[in-house]
Amino acid sequence: MKADLLEKISSRTAVVSVVGLGYVGLPLAVEIAMAGYNVIGIDINDKIVDKVNGGLNYISDVRDSDLSEVVKNGRLHAVSDFSIIRGADCIVICVPTPLDLNKQPDMSFIRSAVRKIAKHLHSGTLVVLESTTYPGTTQELLKPVLETKSGLICEKDFYLAFSPERVDPGNSVYNTKNTPKVVGGIGRASTEAASALYREVLESDVFEVSSPAVAEMEKLLENTYRNINIALINEMAIICEQMKINIWEVIEAAKTKPYGFQAFYPGPGIGGHCIPLDPFYLTWKAREYDYHTRLIELSGEINQYMPQYVVERVYKILNRYKKPLNGSRILILGVAYKQDVGDYRESPALKVIELLEEEGVMVQYFDPYVTDFTNRGKEYKSQELSKEILNKADLVLIITPHQSIDYQFVQTNTPFVFDTRNAMKHVKERNNIELL
Ligand SMILES: NC(=O)c1ccc[n+]([C@@H]2O[C@H](COP(=O)([O-])OP(=O)(O)OC[C@H]3O[C@@H](n4cnc5c(N)ncnc54)[C@H](O)[C@@H]3O)[C@@H](O)[C@H]2O)c1
Repeated sequence: MKADLLEKISSRTAVVSVVGLGYVGLPLAVEIAMAGYNVIGIDINDKIVDKVNGGLNYISDVRDSDLSEVVKNGRLHAVSDFSIIRGADCIVICVPTPLDLNKQPDMSFIRSAVRKIAKHLHSGTLVVLESTTYPGTTQELLKPVLETKSGLICEKDFYLAFSPERVDPGNSVYNTKNTPKVVGGIGRASTEAASALYREVLESDVFEVSSPAVAEMEKLLENTYRNINIALINEMAIICEQMKINIWEVIEAAKTKPYGFQAFYPGPGIGGHCIPLDPFYLTWKAREYDYHTRLIELSGEINQYMPQYVVERVYKILNRYKKPLNGSRILILGVAYKQDVGDYRESPALKVIELLEEEGVMVQYFDPYVTDFTNRGKEYKSQELSKEILNKADLVLIITPHQSIDYQFVQTNTPFVFDTRNAMKHVKERNNIELL
């Protein structure tokens, strides 16, 4: 049976289903289709299904022409009905794994997808989970549901593996196709089948590990490492400001060391769907083993304090000009969670805006990638970055350093800028700029 599956994968006659067509699933579905496989995307959101079938791109990391080509040539189509799984040889799951209000893993999306897959699973199929999750999910949650509901046995009748997605939205060098992939199957056959699929589709190396739990933990290590290092540099930035030392210059100096140092940069907080959330998956699972992940939680605490810290600095700047927060006008540049993307999920900008508005600040924003957004029931619309709006603002607050913004124009036309990202590093005249 494994030989049949491997043959279908290598001859590209295997039908691949990608479940969840968001930031991770759509780029993957397009890559698999471009590699010559027939791909069926499954998403519970009908609007997304219609967009895919209409060739309408909604993910910036996917090229419009690539999507329209694979839809036109019939390699990719989307549905919301899971019964199509009956015709799939490989199924890759890319559904969300958020935290609930109490910062506990919300596994409802995975559970629901896996139950529906199990109903239609047939022998000889490979199932891979890519969603970020706690170590043990594939073994403890997916395997029993798939086996019980389908009556099939893992490693004998079907194959199951975990392979973490590493997509870095907005990264112009590394993408789904050329980022090395880690694969850990329930057994040797599962690892082999999953690796075979990725080796056919991607240009990158596939690194095999001994179990799904290793692959799940590996992903959490990557993101926890970032979380902790960002917290460290944020703490350094806070103390540097008190000591009147420029943290950005300190980092540039430290970067000259050719080994043992990797640069991280301070900022107004962390955002997106990975770094603020993933470490809590580990924290939650560790409790099962009576272990309290102190360092991870402390770094979360420091990073979560950053929006508040930014508002305290804004208050001090305005105070210097005898302006209270209440009634002042602040123009925020960039609300996306990171540079050059339009994703504002968990963005620190949302918290900064919330805190400023609580103090009576009139907040406006400009973001070339986020034309509008809603936060806590209130709608916001991006303004035009005009001389007039810059002139009227008591303070321009840079939260996200989008590269397409003309920072020289900003500096020339506004009274004062608080730059939390060193976005204006190339601007020569600096008498109205303060750095985090
Ligand atoms: N976005 C990133 O940069 C990134 C990077 C690495 C890993 N991840 C991880 O990948 C996973 C997916 O993240 P994303 O950013 O693509 O999420 P997303 O919200 O952009 O997309 C998820 C899609 O899944 C669909 N969906 C939800 N439940 C479903 C179900 N039961 N069946 C079918 N479709 C369903 C949603 O409608 C949505 O279209 C998460 O675990 C995330 O942590 C994300």
